[in-house]
Amino acid sequence: MISRIEFIQQSLETHLFFARIMKEHAFFLMTGFTPRDKKFTDRAAELMRAFEEFLADVVRVSDGVLGEDYLQSGQVVTQFTLEAEKATEFYTGIDISTKITKAEVELSPNMGRHHPAIERKVYMLNRRALTIIGNIIQFKNTILNDVLACKMFTLNYPLLIDHIMREAKLYQHLIMRLQKREVINIHKEAFEQEAFWNRIMAEHAKFIRGLLDPSEEELIKVAHNFGKEFDELTRESKAAMDCANDDVTKESLRATKNIRDFKAQATDGLLDCKIKSIILPLLGDHTLREANHFIHLLRIFKRY
Ligand SMILES: [Fe+2]
Ligand SMILES: [Fe+2]
Repeated sequence: MISRIEFIQQSLETHLFFARIMKEHAFFLMTGFTPRDKKFTDRAAELMRAFEEFLADVVRVSDGVLGEDYLQSGQVVTQFTLEAEKATEFYTGIDISTKITKAEVELSPNMGRHHPAIERKVYMLNRRALTIIGNIIQFKNTILNDVLACKMFTLNYPLLIDHIMREAKLYQHLIMRLQKREVINIHKEAFEQEAFWNRIMAEHAKFIRGLLDPSEEELIKVAHNFGKEFDELTRESKAAMDCANDDVTKESLRATKNIRDFKAQATDGLLDCKIKSIILPLLGDHTLREANHFIHLLRIFKRY
């Protein structure tokens, strides 16, 4: 069984990263439907608000509880998040609660607040999370099935819908395990998660490649090459699951730092109106945070 402190910290860390990711998935889905599917647009808005309310509560409980290392890792918010939200709100006319972002920026690090009252609150937050994660998985599943059966048109790629479903399922899996206070075999788990996130990085590169304006030939080339590199790393980290090859982890870390820099430049370029594309700035920042999350994980894995 994991300790009380591990339960509190790991749960809150997981929520701070993933609940924001989920609220943004709902937002991206919302912007992709045609006028015919207004019910879907409304449902996406509902899910986005549910994750927003949840995230706001998580932020309140997290103040003074988490390590500086985690808070500075760029997976909760980045240097671009607030500006990307404002720009995306400007383009779409959809309200994005920037209050949460500001509160996240101001989160203070651990001051030894681990009393039993927090443990109870975290347990309840985890239960609440499992309900709304279940709802968003079901929603994504319906959309994906409708799109694949040609019953629905949406501006989001089918692979993107599948991609964000896998991210939601990972979140669900992690919280279910935390609720059972299961101890994780980090060595075995590391290669599994590494293969998961390498595939995610490959797909991000391919989404970016496909959403850039066709005239952005240089950036398309760079994105294409990242896609190939991470496809290869996905294969290698899958193979490493059986033989525990640590060199793959080093390679994944190096490549992920590179794609992180590329995503940071791209997000900056989108905000500065320097890149022609159909990428919302918040999507750029979203994929940047996921790269930062993966880097944080890889650094933990390397210690084992
Ligand atoms: Fe995502
Ligand atoms: Fe992603």
